[in-house]
Amino acid sequence: MNPSTLAINGGTKVRDDFLVYGAPLIGEDEIAEVVDCLRSGWVGTGPKTQRFQSMFAEYVGAEHAIGVSSCTAALHLSLLALGIGAGDEVITTPMTFAATANAIIHTGATPVFVDVDKTSQNLDSALIESAITPKTKAVLPVHFAGHPCDMTSINAIAAQHGLVTIEDAAHCIEGVHDGQHVGSISEATAFSFYVTKNLATVEGGMITTNNGDIADELRVRALHGMSKDAWARYSQSGFKHYDVVSAGFKYNLTDIQSAMGIHQLARIDDMSARRKQIWERYHEAFADLPIDLLALPTNGDTHALHLYQIFPRLEELSATRDEIVEAIQAENVGIGIHYRALSEHSFYQEELGVSSADYPNAKWLSDRTISLPFSARLSDDDVADVISTIVKVTRSFQA
Ligand SMILES: Cc1ncc(COP(=O)(O)O)c(C=O)c1O
Repeated sequence: MNPSTLAINGGTKVRDDFLVYGAPLIGEDEIAEVVDCLRSGWVGTGPKTQRFQSMFAEYVGAEHAIGVSSCTAALHLSLLALGIGAGDEVITTPMTFAATANAIIHTGATPVFVDVDKTSQNLDSALIESAITPKTKAVLPVHFAGHPCDMTSINAIAAQHGLVTIEDAAHCIEGVHDGQHVGSISEATAFSFYVTKNLATVEGGMITTNNGDIADELRVRALHGMSKDAWARYSQSGFKHYDVVSAGFKYNLTDIQSAMGIHQLARIDDMSARRKQIWERYHEAFADLPIDLLALPTNGDTHALHLYQIFPRLEELSATRDEIVEAIQAENVGIGIHYRALSEHSFYQEELGVSSADYPNAKWLSDRTISLPFSARLSDDDVADVISTIVKVTRSFQA
């Protein structure tokens, strides 16, 4: 059998076993801490969550960090705590996961999409002002793939128009913009600890803020609207009654999740350094292929290296993106698509009246993007298999 015959055409697969996309690197410390949590009898929200919150606040340089059940919950609560609700508009990007826009919709407000910059994939700050109306209350930028948004420009526009900024940093735990760590810059920042993220607690999220009143409001709303003293139930300082002061949510982070988070955060720089090595190996190996690659920031900002995306040059290849994806997966390499822009989905088209043609950069990215395995868990052999697969597949579709 010719080794260059694609598995999809009956050729030999590059790998014998399937390489799962986004499997996290979980160390013995996480396992021991989870076991310790299980044995301790305190598995809900408690001391390990308090420890993780303090560590996280210190890591990003924010005054407060509030652990929650997901980034989706973090976005929803932040919007509500900052007063966003029915009749309001929130400017955001179509190049994101559904959670970003859905969190806005669940407050009763309307997401207003602004196209992205093709290089950073982030909301194009030059387009924000033209989307502002008397109903606009907030801007919700997403640091896509780990590339920090131009928060200096975004926050200057927000300040000029009296808007609040809530950052979606699901991809950007390690990001730094203009010398400031992401999470310490705006009114509120939402992080994700979902399995595929740079820090994984299976499910989980965090909100950071420098505003003590907002932090208190977030804590109350994250736990059924029980008065802030309710959190003291998790200390050993004696029994206290709580008072329900608003109709809150069940959005708290548990100690089992925080047990993982504590050790994931302690190793975040090591995991990041490993992804940097993988990034460099991929970049070198793909330099001559008919695919476009992501560029790191050139302004001194720190990219969080969350996704490694490739953009096949479809005009030079005899296959669509989806055919390329099928061929890659047939070689036993799992991939991700981040994302089909929200302006391509029927719900947002019908609900918001948006059209794909209004977001040409988001559409261009959305039609081409493929995310390759990029976890710190990958062995050198795994990385070599991904490279062999991408070389094999793109070469065989080259005209
Ligand atoms: C940009 C972005 N925002 C928000 C989310 C939602 O995160 P979670 O799954 O923690 O709710 C994701 C998840 O993939 C995401 O990619």
